[in-house]
Amino acid sequence: MALIEWSPEFSLGVAELDDEHRDLIQIVNQLYQQIQSGRYQTTVIDALEQLHTSAAGHFAHEEEMMRTHAYAAYEEHHADHRRLLAEVTAMIDQCQDGVDDDEAMARWLYVWFCNHFKTHDAPLHQLIGVSP
Ligand SMILES: [Fe+2]
Ligand SMILES: [Fe+2]
Repeated sequence: MALIEWSPEFSLGVAELDDEHRDLIQIVNQLYQQIQSGRYQTTVIDALEQLHTSAAGHFAHEEEMMRTHAYAAYEEHHADHRRLLAEVTAMIDQCQDGVDDDEAMARWLYVWFCNHFKTHDAPLHQLIGVSP
């Protein structure tokens, strides 16, 4: 079972950004599958590194768009992006040290992505979704 199911409320109304959201959800779901299937430590670390890279690329894309539109809530949105990247880095460190808590990791990612999409990305949708 997938950790995060795609929902229309995760859509920004911009095909490229929506594809990036789908990719991020897919990476998180693959990571969750690996955790559940008695995974190898290196596979989970690889998935976390892939998540960090893909998320950083997506965030840069969104942040550029917010700057272009002089988006008022830029700082809060940007700070929440940094929070995810810092946490994924900490998760990689914990995996490397063998002190990771897989259930807590999955729960944290689930809560962050669902909340971020709804509370930070959805308002952005209202701005850029109507732009040409
Ligand atoms: Fe996003
Ligand atoms: Fe975002």
